[in-house]
Amino acid sequence: MARSPLAVWLYGARIGILREQGYRKLRFEFLRESEERFRPGSPVLSASMPIDAQRKPNGVPVRIFFGALLPEGAARSRISEKFEVAPGDDFGLLAAIGRDCAGAVVIQPEEAPAPGTGGHLIPMTDDELAHAIRTIRDRPLGEQDGVRISLPGAQEKLVLARTEGGEWAWPADGAPSTYILKPQDMRYEAYAASEAFCLDLARSISLTTVEVEVLDLAGRPTVVVSRYDRRAEANGVTRIHQEDALQAIGKRDKKYEGDGGPSLRDFAEVLSRLGSHRDLVGLLSLTTLNVLVGNADAHAKNFSILHQVDGSIELAPAYDITPTTYYRQIPTSRGLVDLDDALGMKVNHKKSIHSITEVDLIAEGKSWGLGNRDADEVVRETVQLVTGFIDDAANRWGIPESMTKFVKNRARALSDGEQASAYESGRRPSNRRGSSAFGQQHVPADLSDQSEPTDRSSESH
Ligand SMILES: Nc1ncnc2c1ncn2[C@@H]1O[C@H](COP(=O)(O)OP(=O)(O)OP(=O)(O)O)[C@@H](O)[C@H]1O
Ligand SMILES: [Mg+2]
Repeated sequence: MARSPLAVWLYGARIGILREQGYRKLRFEFLRESEERFRPGSPVLSASMPIDAQRKPNGVPVRIFFGALLPEGAARSRISEKFEVAPGDDFGLLAAIGRDCAGAVVIQPEEAPAPGTGGHLIPMTDDELAHAIRTIRDRPLGEQDGVRISLPGAQEKLVLARTEGGEWAWPADGAPSTYILKPQDMRYEAYAASEAFCLDLARSISLTTVEVEVLDLAGRPTVVVSRYDRRAEANGVTRIHQEDALQAIGKRDKKYEGDGGPSLRDFAEVLSRLGSHRDLVGLLSLTTLNVLVGNADAHAKNFSILHQVDGSIELAPAYDITPTTYYRQIPTSRGLVDLDDALGMKVNHKKSIHSITEVDLIAEGKSWGLGNRDADEVVRETVQLVTGFIDDAANRWGIPESMTKFVKNRARALSDGEQASAYESGRRPSNRRGSSAFGQQHVPADLSDQSEPTDRSSESH
């Protein structure tokens, strides 16, 4: 028997109904209220699903959009167990944890009162927070009674709020979360500090508004980021809608281009159709930053757009940036495993992050419709500006000297017209297909061997 339909709310309006149809298929229809609150054709929910109360959206973007709201990997499995649904049962999972998602959608039973009115915060003591970190493997997203939160991503995280007095708190019964906490994956040296460092660089060139700090919680350095899709207002916190590039493109349900997922050009097409020139400039600058810091994990769920009530969109602030290629290998139960150099999304048709040059970045931008002069200026300026901020940011976050040197070498190589990894020893593009190993590995909470990355890449290629 089909389970009761779910109501989908956005910016105070009940815009649609989500049903399950047959085995694990979703059907979504917009309600008339969606056209009254927004306008027919508005992309406010998703660039891949314009509002149309006359016709039901196509099944592919529906599946991608709603599925992409849910956690991935081990977190998804654990949450499925807790709510007694299958890990692939998106409908069951959305019914269980769809009340607070990335962006402003709220998914809840049809009969539940309008969101935004209910919900409360449950303050936590320091011990409770430490306990939540310690037990995160069994309780991903800090899931507990009354807390119904979803957030995509493969890494472990807690999704919390802060009380007016600044205490950490569980957002319960539909209250919006306002912070994301990511305890360090202990297999990677200084991983939390490296993410803070990269976000700091992004902030210094206005690519993000995210506030970042690193806290020591239960012995694990933890990156804490403020949510840019939440806004504090006089009468409480409001949600601002966002969707990731995978959802906005709505065509292929794979986040890595190497696995058949969308390209940067696909995403740029959405930005130029619905956004502005500024967004393309932002995307090119962010892509340059990713190459510069050695972040190969910039896949289609690591870029997003913000949707305002009036239907306008813009590139969302940058998030989830780490120097993945600094870490050449990870210790696993099978021994040391090489990390892949494949870009989450190719740059100028090239798949290895080691091989990218300024010319490739400029060519990529031009393929999106940016003028030659614009693309050239954005790339060069980004490299130049970031170079100027590296030392300060590195000092602020106390990253290892070898990591600072790694980023500086890449910046110098790009400025010199060389391939990004030209000044690192033993770096050559590999011929392997496939996706970055990052985000695909389960994170064992109890692994504490923070071994220095070793230079064994010559053996691996
Ligand atoms: N500061 C932020 N504000 C709002 N939303 C955010 C923020 N940071 C991340 N998100 C959302 O949460 C999702 C998961 O966060 P993040 O990408 O940091 O997790 P992750 O598990 O490291 O991801 P991955 O699977 O790429 O390794 C993002 O895809 C994005 O939708
Ligand atoms: Mg991510």
